[in-house]
Amino acid sequence: EMDKINFNDRVAVITGAGGGLGRTYALELASRGCKVVVNDLGGARDGSGGGSASPADNVVEEIKQMGGEAVANYDNVATPEGGAAIIQSAIDAFGRVDIVINNAGILRDKSFLKMEPENWNAVMAVHLHGAYNVTKPAFSIMKQQGFGRIIMTTSAAGLYGNFGQTNYSSAKMALVGFMNTLKLEGGKYNIKVNTVAPLAASRLTEDIMPPEIFAKMKPEFVSPMVLYLCSEDCKETGQIFNAGMGYFNRAAVMTGPSVQLGEGDTPPTLEDIADNWEAINSMEGAKELNDLNSAMFDMLSPPAPAAEAAAPAAGGEIKPADI
Ligand code: NAI
Repeated sequence: EMDKINFNDRVAVITGAGGGLGRTYALELASRGCKVVVNDLGGARDGSGGGSASPADNVVEEIKQMGGEAVANYDNVATPEGGAAIIQSAIDAFGRVDIVINNAGILRDKSFLKMEPENWNAVMAVHLHGAYNVTKPAFSIMKQQGFGRIIMTTSAAGLYGNFGQTNYSSAKMALVGFMNTLKLEGGKYNIKVNTVAPLAASRLTEDIMPPEIFAKMKPEFVSPMVLYLCSEDCKETGQIFNAGMGYFNRAAVMTGPSVQLGEGDTPPTLEDIADNWEAINSMEGAKELNDLNSAMFDMLSPPAPAAEAAAPAAGGEIKPADI
């Protein structure tokens, strides 16, 4: 039997951990020996209000009741000062930061034409700028330590789209781009950066789901994936995982085979594009590419033409349309 994965001597910062998914991550990490900073500014679902200490305090109390170690923090992830103060509270209480779970979130759903700048900006500020504000001071400590585990929280709304959520979808997909680069910068310091797209019952989803499904959507069906990604055992970096109701899969950006058009230094025409539309759209043998350079190299080295096209009649010329 596998040894139980533990987080002894590790320190985790979990943003928005006063309720919902973040609270469950905090309780479960603490139950496996992790010291936890429970951050939550205690606002309403749309980010209004705030300044209530009780959600974070309650979770800290729960952790202490079960014999764990935790401190509360009420700072706002949406400002650089808030992010710095959140990480400082980990240093003050426990002397290090090994794990950051960027989980704090709000919703301001509106169809696009009703999406006022205020609603756009508020969602960007918490999800995207929040992850930047908190991760940056932590990353510097992780780099010195030579160890770090960072979690971004995306959403199916960002990965696939959801009506009425242009702000939220943009912020959530931006976190995937953030991960894509941070995984490269953290690579040689054993800093792993991964992204989870959760699906769970919380106040963010209670009015979206039918009640009978809602009951089966405990955050505990998501948290094992997040804890695994936070563990020393995790060798993955730069990956996206969907997790909900006990179902798990990996999502990825895939790139199809490239088609080369134009002759020498003569650029292709838009008719060339139209004529080759099917080939350009093909995802046959699609690949995952790890960084910009490998994507460039892959695009500039199209797959060998199919056998019959590769051996044209004598004097024949291979036209892209033949491939
Ligand atoms: P929740 O509303 O229960 O938890 C979010 C917490 O973040 C709240 O306790 C809130 O007070 C806190 N928070 C909000 N703004 C903050 C700020 N500026 N600074 C510090 N804390 C702040 O919601 P839930 O569902 O647990 O969401 C957690 C994360 O998972 C969010 O990022 C959300 O977008 C994401 N998510 C959730 C899904 C679900 O099915 N529940 C689906 C996809 C993504």
